[in-house]
Amino acid sequence: MNYNPVTNEVIQALEQIVGARNVKTAPEVLEAYQSDESLTPDLWHLPEVVVSPGSTEEVAAIMKVANQYKVPVTPRSAGTSVSAGAVPVYGGIVLLMERMNRILEINTEGMYLVAEAGARTADIQAAAKEKGLMYAGDPCSADSCLIGGNLATNAGGNKAVRYGTTRHQVYAIEAVLPNGKIAHLGAPLKKCSTGYCLDQLIIGSEGTLGIITQATLKLVPLAPYKLDVLAVFTDLKKATALVPQLIKAGLNPTSVEFMDNNFVRSASDYSELRLPHYEDGIYDIVSIETFSEHELDEKMEKLAEVCEACGATDVVEADDRVWKVRRNCLESTRVFSRVATSEDLVVPVTKIAECIQTLVEESKKYDFLIFCLAHAGDGNLHFQIMKRDMPDDEWERQLAQFRAFAYPYVYQLGGRLSGEHGIGYKRLSYMEQYTDPVELELMKTIKKAMDPNGILNPDKIIHVE
Ligand code: LAC
Ligand code: ZN
Repeated sequence: MNYNPVTNEVIQALEQIVGARNVKTAPEVLEAYQSDESLTPDLWHLPEVVVSPGSTEEVAAIMKVANQYKVPVTPRSAGTSVSAGAVPVYGGIVLLMERMNRILEINTEGMYLVAEAGARTADIQAAAKEKGLMYAGDPCSADSCLIGGNLATNAGGNKAVRYGTTRHQVYAIEAVLPNGKIAHLGAPLKKCSTGYCLDQLIIGSEGTLGIITQATLKLVPLAPYKLDVLAVFTDLKKATALVPQLIKAGLNPTSVEFMDNNFVRSASDYSELRLPHYEDGIYDIVSIETFSEHELDEKMEKLAEVCEACGATDVVEADDRVWKVRRNCLESTRVFSRVATSEDLVVPVTKIAECIQTLVEESKKYDFLIFCLAHAGDGNLHFQIMKRDMPDDEWERQLAQFRAFAYPYVYQLGGRLSGEHGIGYKRLSYMEQYTDPVELELMKTIKKAMDPNGILNPDKIIHVE
C-alpha cells in the first residue's frame, strides 16, 4: 500500500474535527506512541500525528479524512499490547481512545452495562460490583487496560475458564467502519438468528475492520462465596497433570493458573511479597466461586483431594496477595532485559500438561532467559523470553529456532499461535506461515472489502497488497 504523508492540510482537517489541543505532533509525544508494551524495538514506528477524539462522530469524521488523504490510522487503547498491536507500522495517525471513557448505563434489570471504548476495564469491573453484579472479563492488565482494547483483541485473562473470553461478555457494539460509517451491531438478546454475526467479526479483529467506540457488556450475578487455593508442587509433571484432573472433577473453577518457579520468584520480588515455597515452588492457583456456603465446602473438599492425589507438596488457602503476584508476572520480568518477547500459545486443555512439559524441556537448550506461566484451564500458555547478554543475531537465531520447534508442535496438538494477545504486527509472518491458506485468503478478502484503501491499522494480523 502507498500512503500519503500527514501534511499541514491533514493536520488542519483533524484540528477542525477535534480541536487543536487534541492534535499533537510534538516529537516527545510521537515518540511516546511509537511502541506499546512489546519489548521488540525493531517493530516500533513513529506516528506522524496523535489525535484524541471525544465522540463517535469525531472518530467517523477522522476516518473520512484519512480515506480522503490516504493516511493510515492506528487505533490505540491503553497500549498494553505485547504483540506490537498499537504500533503505527506506516506512521500516519495514532488515534487515542482514552478521552471516550464514560460508563453510560448500568442496567441491573437487564444485566448489562454500556461503556465507551476508553473506559478502564477495572472501572467497569468496579461499577458492576457496586451493583452486586460482575463483569467477567479480567485480563491481567485490568488496572490499566481499556475496554476497547479488550474487545479489539478479544482479551482472555483469568476468568476465561468459567466465563469465556471478552467476546463472550458482549451483547452489542458500536463501531466506526474503515469508510467512516457508524455501525451498530448486535443487541442485548439471548438469541439472535438475524443475519451475519458482524459484532463478533469486528471483536478480535485487532482494530483492522473497525474502531469499536462503545459496547454493551453482559453482567452476571456476583457469586457471594469465593475461595482461592494455592496448590504448590516441586515437580513440573505433577503440577501440570493437575489441570485436566481439575476440569474433569466438575469443580467448574473460575480460574486455573499455572506459574513456574521463575515467575513465582520474580513476581514475588516485584510485589514485595513472600509467598509459600518461594524458593522452589511451582504454583497452580485455583479459584472457586459458589452461591452457597455448602457448595463451597463441598468443592473445597474435592479440590483438596484432587490436589493431593496429583502429588501437591502443599495446598493452602490463598488470599489476594497471590493474585497480586500473579497479575505482576509480566511486569516483574522487565528488570531482566529491555528486549523480550511473550509467547501466547494455545492448545486443547487436554494437551496443556504435555505441551508445557515438552516446551519447558526444549527451552533448556537455549541461552536466553525463559519463564513459563499459563492460564492452564484455558490451554493457554505464555513464555516470557528475555534477551541476555548475547549478540543480536544470536538472539534472533535462537528465538527463531525455539519457534521453529514450538509452533509446528503446537499446531500438531491442534493449537494456535495466540490465545489472547493477538497476532498484532509481531506475528504477521507466522500468521502467513501457519494459517490454512483458505482461511487466510478469506480474511484478506474481508479486509479488502471493508477497507479498500487499507488505511485502518495496516499490517496487523494480515498483510494485504
Ligand atoms: C498474563 C499476560 C501476559 O497472563 O497475558 O500475565
Ligand atoms: Zn495472559
